[in-house]
Amino acid sequence: MSKLLPNIKHVVAVSSAKGGVGKSTVAANLAMALQLEGYKVGVLDADLYGPSQPLIFGVSEQRPDINADGKMSPIMAHGLAVMSIGFHLQREDSALIWRGAQLNSALEKLLFDTIWPELDYLIVDLPPGTGDIQLSLSQQVVVAGALVVSTPQELALLDAKKGLKMLHQLNIPVLGVVENMNMFICPQCGHEEHLFGHDAAQLMSLQYLVNFLGSLPLDKRIQQGDESGVPFVLAHPDDKVSAIFREMASKIVEIIAQNEADATPIVPQSVEQLQPQVKEIKWNI
Ligand SMILES: Nc1ncnc2c1ncn2[C@@H]1O[C@H](COP(=O)(O)OP(=O)(O)OP(=O)(O)O)[C@@H](O)[C@H]1O
Ligand SMILES: [Mg+2]
Repeated sequence: MSKLLPNIKHVVAVSSAKGGVGKSTVAANLAMALQLEGYKVGVLDADLYGPSQPLIFGVSEQRPDINADGKMSPIMAHGLAVMSIGFHLQREDSALIWRGAQLNSALEKLLFDTIWPELDYLIVDLPPGTGDIQLSLSQQVVVAGALVVSTPQELALLDAKKGLKMLHQLNIPVLGVVENMNMFICPQCGHEEHLFGHDAAQLMSLQYLVNFLGSLPLDKRIQQGDESGVPFVLAHPDDKVSAIFREMASKIVEIIAQNEADATPIVPQSVEQLQPQVKEIKWNI
């Protein structure tokens, strides 16, 4: 049965069909950028096999409190409420329960058994692909929209197109495309080198009539932010790369508000409604 999260105004997913393109990095920095804009923000790490958010927020060693009803307090990191299966797998008393859980029920537990504070945005970091977790998320909550992260290489873009199709079929509004690692800026001379050619993601967004949310450079400091526990946007709030994340955050806020103003409300679909559609997905792009 589909449920809503009463404390949370908007659930925003960060997706890509391909692995390693920067979803977790974008999710964490987008969350920080929204917080800098004054919103209350949480992060749900829905990558059950490869959780990244505990590391990115520097809270890998922390363990959520679990109350007598089995409800979990999120870990607070830099003012954000964070929940991840990564907090549980090291924990002897709960690791077995989590390992044995079906994907669906593990996601449901993270969503509904977390005592989320009042949030304007819950950013969901999805695993790569077009599979069960994406389907399960769309069945369990109303998702205000998803962004698709892509790198500029042709193959990654093909995957991004698959991702767009999947979101349409799951009835999740596409907020837009983010192009990651599109160019290298030489730290010595400031020369901008477009490593994989220009504008492919912008062209794709035009072709598929989705918003283009921004291009992020390949920047060592972004990766260092991921590993140091202080996401880039928090470490360098006034940097021009942070401005790209902040602009992305503003666009997302605007698009969601616009969608809500126009909308026929989006309701989560039942398993019965969705599964036949998903079986019929044809990747003939
Ligand atoms: N713009 C960037 N500049 C430099 N490094 C980056 C950038 N974006 C991501 N990275 C680095 O690339 C690696 C992959 O990024 P990330 O883990 O965010 O990808 P992902 O799509 O979430 O991967 P997965 O599919 O495995 O979940 C990480 O080491 C990250 O720090
Ligand atoms: Mg990831």
